[in-house]
Amino acid sequence: MFNIVIIGTGNVSHHLCNAILNSKTLNLVQLFGRKKKLPKNFKQSISYCYNLKEIKKADFYIICVNDGAILKVSDELSLDKSSIVVHSSGSTNMDELSKHKNYGVLYPLQTFSKRKKTNFRDIPIIIEGSSNSVLNKIKKLSTLLSKKVVVCSSEQRTLIHISAVFTNNFSNFMNIIAEKILKSQNIDVDILNPLIKETADKLNYLSPSEAQTGPAIRNDEITIQKHLNLLKETKYFEVYNRLTEEIIKSKNEL
Ligand SMILES: NC(=O)c1ccc[n+]([C@@H]2O[C@H](COP(=O)([O-])OP(=O)(O)OC[C@H]3O[C@@H](n4cnc5c(N)ncnc54)[C@H](OP(=O)(O)O)[C@@H]3O)[C@@H](O)[C@H]2O)c1
Repeated sequence: MFNIVIIGTGNVSHHLCNAILNSKTLNLVQLFGRKKKLPKNFKQSISYCYNLKEIKKADFYIICVNDGAILKVSDELSLDKSSIVVHSSGSTNMDELSKHKNYGVLYPLQTFSKRKKTNFRDIPIIIEGSSNSVLNKIKKLSTLLSKKVVVCSSEQRTLIHISAVFTNNFSNFMNIIAEKILKSQNIDVDILNPLIKETADKLNYLSPSEAQTGPAIRNDEITIQKHLNLLKETKYFEVYNRLTEEIIKSKNEL
C-alpha cells in the first residue's frame, strides 16, 4: 500500500485523486491546494490542507501544478528523506525537484478536463527517476495506476509532449475554429460531430498518412482558392493557407 499526497487541485489532480480513491492498493493521504476550501469537484471526504507546513507524511508526493510553479512548490516542500517527490509535467526537467533526495516524473499522457471522466488504467504513464531504486518505486506506483508504463529520458518525454500538443491541442483548436465559422452563419455546430468521431476512429484502422483526405492532399486548386477567397477577410485565412501549403509540400512524404 502506497501513501500518496497530491499537490494542486487542477485537472490532473482531479483525475489522479479519483484514480487513487478507486484503487485498493493506493491510499490518498492528503490533497494540498492554494484555496482555503477543498474545491467542490473533489470527493469531500478527502483530507485537505492549504498550508504546506501541515502536509502529512507519505511515500509519494505528486506535484500537479502549472509547469511554471513546479520549482517554487518543490522548494517550499520539506520532506522526509525516504519519500519520493514527482511532478506530472510533459516538458519540465526532472531536476527542478533536485533539492529532494528522491525525485522523478510521473507524466500521464492524456488530455484531462475536470468535467470529462477518464479511465486511468488506459492512460500511458511516462516515468523518470533520480536513481534506479527510485525509478523502480515510481514504476511500481505507476503500474498500480495504469496498464502502460514507459521509462523515458527527459528529452524523449519532451518530444512525446510536443507530439501530444500536435495531436490533441492543435487538432482541438481546429475544432474551435470550425465551430466559430459555423456559428458565424448560425449553422448547428453538432453537424460536425460524426466527422470528428470518424476522424479519431479511422486511426484504429489506418495510419494518419493513410487517413488524410481533403482538397490539400488532392491538390484541388479550384476548391482551395474558393475557400481562401471566402476566408480572405478573416483571421482564419493564414492558418488555412499555411496548413494547406504544408500538406501539399509533404504530400510526397505521406
Ligand atoms: N491537463 C492536462 O491535460 C495535462 C496532461 C498531462 C500533464 N499535465 C501537467 O500536469 C500539471 C498540472 O496541469 P493541470 O492541467 O492540472 O493544470 P490546472 O488545471 O491549470 O491546475 C493547476 C493547479 O496548480 C495550482 N497552482 C498554480 N500555481 C501554484 C503555486 N504557485 N502554488 C500552489 N499551487 C499552484 C493551481 O492552483 P489554483 O487552482 O489555486 O489556481 C491549480 O490547482 C502541469 O504540469 C501539466 O503540464 C496536464
